[in-house]
Amino acid sequence: MRRYSTRIAAVAMLGCGLHAALPASAQDKNLGAAIAAKGGSGGAAACVSCHGAKGEGMAAAGFPRLAGLHPDYLLAQLDNFASGLRQNPVMAPIARQLTAAERQAVAGYFGGLPPPTPVASGDPNVLKASDRGAWLADRGHWDDNLPACVQCHGPGGAGTGSAFPPLAGQSSAYLASQLHAFKSGARPGGPMSLMSVVAKRMTDADIAAVADHFGAAPADKGKK
Ligand code: HEC
Ligand code: HEC
Repeated sequence: MRRYSTRIAAVAMLGCGLHAALPASAQDKNLGAAIAAKGGSGGAAACVSCHGAKGEGMAAAGFPRLAGLHPDYLLAQLDNFASGLRQNPVMAPIARQLTAAERQAVAGYFGGLPPPTPVASGDPNVLKASDRGAWLADRGHWDDNLPACVQCHGPGGAGTGSAFPPLAGQSSAYLASQLHAFKSGARPGGPMSLMSVVAKRMTDADIAAVADHFGAAPADKGKK
């Protein structure tokens, strides 16, 4: 829970509005944990059955990691699934079966869990132009007006603040599916449509390369 108290301290220090989605009370936290383990009052399935007992995700099935993502980001995604802005046949009905208070509680719960154990990756200092994925991630491709992913998603793709989720620690299959969803419009691009703009400039080969790159990156590189 160290990450959590650090976050609360930082929020208090900065006096910014991030506290909205943090669990307001122990009761909220219990509610979030109960939904994760057993499902919601309106019939929503238990989150852990797909997202893993610790919110670590299930790479093989393409179910994303939720542990340690910012609670505001998680809540925004649940709201988007519920409203139909973010389309997905599996997740949308589940989000719709949760009340607004349940979505907030469960977002706070998963946001407070520690990120999964890092997976091994190559040496980040060795960057070759021929490694398109690593190059896009760290340098971008200015000829195509494509900024480096780490400019928004933080060093190593570890995620920054409430708007830019981690890419590290997600499976390459999930990352690729989301990039295609941003490109097609099945998923909205977040603040100022930033991510749609980026994804539309990527070729299918770019998507595959960069998804493989981050799909192999450690989850705890850099700090939120
Ligand atoms: C039957 C499997 C299943 C269950 C149960 C399930 N999810 Fe999901 N979840 C998914 C899939 C698949 C996706 C990816 C959707 C997509 O591609 O847009 C997802 C995506 C998400 C995301 C978006 C993550 C991101 O990085 O943007 C959130 C948040 C989420 N689920 C929360 C929950 C919560 C909370 C519960 C429990 C109430 C839950 N899920 C239960 C399958 C499931
Ligand atoms: C200008 C800022 C910006 C840049 C550069 C950027 N992103 Fe994003 N990205 C975002 C934002 C904002 C979101 C959150 C969208 C939302 O709120 O749904 C996001 C979300 C994502 C997601 C969804 C993660 C999840 O958990 O579902 C993926 C995958 C992603 N970005 C991949 C990339 C890749 C790969 C690159 C580099 C080629 C990149 N992004 C560059 C802003 C950016």
